[in-house]
Amino acid sequence: MPHLAARMSRAKPSAIMVVAEKANQLKAAGRDIISFSIGVPNFLPGEHVYQAAREALTRDSGQYGSNRGPDGLLDAFIKHLEEGGLGGYTRKNIATGIGAKHILYNLAEALLDPGDVIVFPTPYWTTYIDIADILEATARTLPCPASQNYKLTPAQLDAALPGAKVFLFNNPSNPTGMVYTKEEVAALADVLVAHPDVWIICDDIYNRMVFDGIGYHNFINARPELRDRVIHVDSISKTYGMPGWRVGFVAGPENIAQAMVTLNSNHITNLPEVVNAAALAALSGPQDVTIAKNAEFSLKRDRVLAALTAIPGVVCPRPQGAFYAFPDISCAFGKSHAGKRIGNDVDLCDALLESKGVACVPGSAFGEPRALRISYTCPTAQLAPGLARIQEFFAELT
Ligand SMILES: Cc1ncc(COP(=O)(O)O)c(C=O)c1O
Repeated sequence: MPHLAARMSRAKPSAIMVVAEKANQLKAAGRDIISFSIGVPNFLPGEHVYQAAREALTRDSGQYGSNRGPDGLLDAFIKHLEEGGLGGYTRKNIATGIGAKHILYNLAEALLDPGDVIVFPTPYWTTYIDIADILEATARTLPCPASQNYKLTPAQLDAALPGAKVFLFNNPSNPTGMVYTKEEVAALADVLVAHPDVWIICDDIYNRMVFDGIGYHNFINARPELRDRVIHVDSISKTYGMPGWRVGFVAGPENIAQAMVTLNSNHITNLPEVVNAAALAALSGPQDVTIAKNAEFSLKRDRVLAALTAIPGVVCPRPQGAFYAFPDISCAFGKSHAGKRIGNDVDLCDALLESKGVACVPGSAFGEPRALRISYTCPTAQLAPGLARIQEFFAELT
């Protein structure tokens, strides 16, 4: 019997999908479930996006397209970057892919040989560790607990970079919702300048989802000499409510963009014309849906934070972006709920789902087992009851 490649024994299904699946099963069985589990934006893009897709269908060539992406889409992304404060890119610096996830996988393939070290903070987005595992890279994770607001310090970064090939930075963060201030980004950039052999991948796909007026800041503006090593990853998934359309972008040095084009030419060839047209319309059309949703998420964040911080013992650093909160719930460990012992984050999420019908993702999926992730993109009407059920759950612990 032939067998699978060894790397498949290292590939794991996403822990987030496992929770979502269980919640769906309970829902199908008639239970009243409120899901705070999947990180999908839960809104649709503006009508102009659908209009552009329909028009593209009427003039579809049906042919293969550019491995890099069509010029119009590359130009729209360059303009989008400029509007977000990142200027100075030309088409040769840009490539498209099937979502940021595909771009991140391709970047890892392009930059990491087996045994190479990739550094990133914990909590991390689950896929980072999985990609490193599949490619046999060594993940050097840097613990950033709630007590340091889940943020990486310059000293931690400085100590971790010797011998590393890649530093992977995610700002705003999934799962914590943390956003680095201008000063914090500048302090990390100073450290990066002192380690010239390290590539810097910025997974900044939530850069349009920032609250409290703190703004989005990047390493290149802080230290322009980093431009030759900084690789910016972006996507239309969250910003425009288009996760299923699967469009991601990379902006970076020419050889990096070219590496993505070469991998595309061997994997996917091109994104479909209709998808490209929709992405172009999203980037260059009216931004009112994105702006309105950001305001809505900011209000929801306030309500989530108020509910969580009202629970004795729960610690929730203030999220300032994306649509996640990541409370430290370790105060519950060692207690029981309705006779069930809560030994860890997985027990807690299980008991919460079983007893209250609220689905959250255990923090261990993100490398931080003292926490759980709440994704608050659910319909607004479900937010208050979901939060009340979490409060009830904690009040019932014995
Ligand atoms: C931090 C982060 N990076 C990348 C992605 C992947 O996004 P895309 O839908 O563009 O593949 C996600 C999606 O959840 C994410 O949270």
